[in-house]
Amino acid sequence: MAKSRSSFVCQACGAVTSRWQGRCDACGDWNTIVEELTDSGVGAGPKSAKAGGRATNLVPLSGETESAARVVTGMAEFDRVTGGGFVKGSALLVGGDPGIGKSTLLLQSAAALANRGKRVIYVSGEEAVAQVRLRAQRLGLGEANVMLAAETNVEIILATLENGPVPDLVIIDSIQTLWTDRVDSSPGTVTQVRTSAQALTRFAKKSGAAVVLVGHVTKDGQIAGPRVVEHMVDAVLYFEGDASHTFRILRAVKNRYGATDEIGVFAMTELGLEQVLNPSALFLDQRDDDATGSAVFAGMEGTRPLLIEIQALVAPSPLGTPRRAVVGWDSSRLSMVLAVLETRCGVRIGANDIYLNVAGGLKINEPAADLAVAAALISSLTGSPLPKDSVYFGEISLAGGIRPVAHGSIRLREAQKLGFKSVCTGRLGTADKSTGLEVSEFTALADLVGRIAANGKPREAPRDEW
Ligand code: TYD
Ligand code: MG
Repeated sequence: MAKSRSSFVCQACGAVTSRWQGRCDACGDWNTIVEELTDSGVGAGPKSAKAGGRATNLVPLSGETESAARVVTGMAEFDRVTGGGFVKGSALLVGGDPGIGKSTLLLQSAAALANRGKRVIYVSGEEAVAQVRLRAQRLGLGEANVMLAAETNVEIILATLENGPVPDLVIIDSIQTLWTDRVDSSPGTVTQVRTSAQALTRFAKKSGAAVVLVGHVTKDGQIAGPRVVEHMVDAVLYFEGDASHTFRILRAVKNRYGATDEIGVFAMTELGLEQVLNPSALFLDQRDDDATGSAVFAGMEGTRPLLIEIQALVAPSPLGTPRRAVVGWDSSRLSMVLAVLETRCGVRIGANDIYLNVAGGLKINEPAADLAVAAALISSLTGSPLPKDSVYFGEISLAGGIRPVAHGSIRLREAQKLGFKSVCTGRLGTADKSTGLEVSEFTALADLVGRIAANGKPREAPRDEW
């Protein structure tokens, strides 16, 4: 037995320190450092790693290589996100909040593959076999030829997988429940998660099976999330959505075998997840028919595009100091947009009560939302509904101009994918506009204001605002 050594590992970011401290220096989180015991250091590699190396063959970069062999599930929305099916010999991480539907999604794709005659093994560390069976029956997949196991020990899982023909697909649900004999820390800690993920990734490479790891993430990152696993696997998909809504979005954030700006849209029903082949219908369904004061912002969350509805209500104020209520956006940013509308565009809006809401409970930090906010405000002020199939993005400058923002082409592609037809923005520059969207590029905010106001109807009790 190797000598045990303890180290202090941040459960949020995986940074290692030599002593305990209240705050992690690497990520700044409090109370995330936990003592972990490891035998030969964190994430112990093979014992023989320092034994005399054998030379490897060097090959030229140019050369013929056949494209990656894939296992296609036949669920079009899923296959689109993976880039055309699971790649043999690769490891894929599916992350998401607990209860969002990861197990359901993977059980359905496992059954779809098994029905195509593939060998599929589903290892559940969270649920007993009976629970998985019950769920499969409820989903109408009870007859699918998926092999089940309820196991959490990595060595036993590997021995099981190596026994018998190589599976086409292995699903491990979830990586947080696994533990390996090789390290002493408890299941769910960064060291266990990382060592287990390493072992399973190695199995995928060695055997040629596609391995899917399920991982829970929590918003505050308190539990050892799958983030430490992200750099080990070939693809990372996130399954997200609001638990109070039915729709779920599967998004690739990393993919060594395909594009990362693909999304798959599903709806959670009593019969499991249904593919939504026309997501814009679902998305627009939730918007009110009278779109006055509502603008769709084509935003980015990190590297991910996201379309978000921004709602504004501008109402005459009986108060000396009008009310400003903002949910999901920065209120000083709202003051800035209002000031620019007043002074640069001649819009008398300041004396009104103003309510601004980002639909769906999201919080936006991007300055690119300025234009959508301004459009929603003007639309509400003038009673002029914005076109329902239009998206807005652009940063407003204090001089009243509209500045271009980054990732124009990703935003356009997302809007087009979700069924939108036109876009209002600043200058797009070199962004790829070949999406079929009708693009209106504005350099001055006043031009957009004029265009929206021209469709407006006068208020019932006109108040000399214009
Ligand atoms: P699950 O796949 O267990 O989530 P995860 O593995 O991500 O934790 O799904 C959990 C939720 O999905 C649960 O709250 C119930 C709901 N659900 C349905 O609405 N319909 C269904 O057919 C199934 C199987 C689950
Ligand atoms: Mg689950």
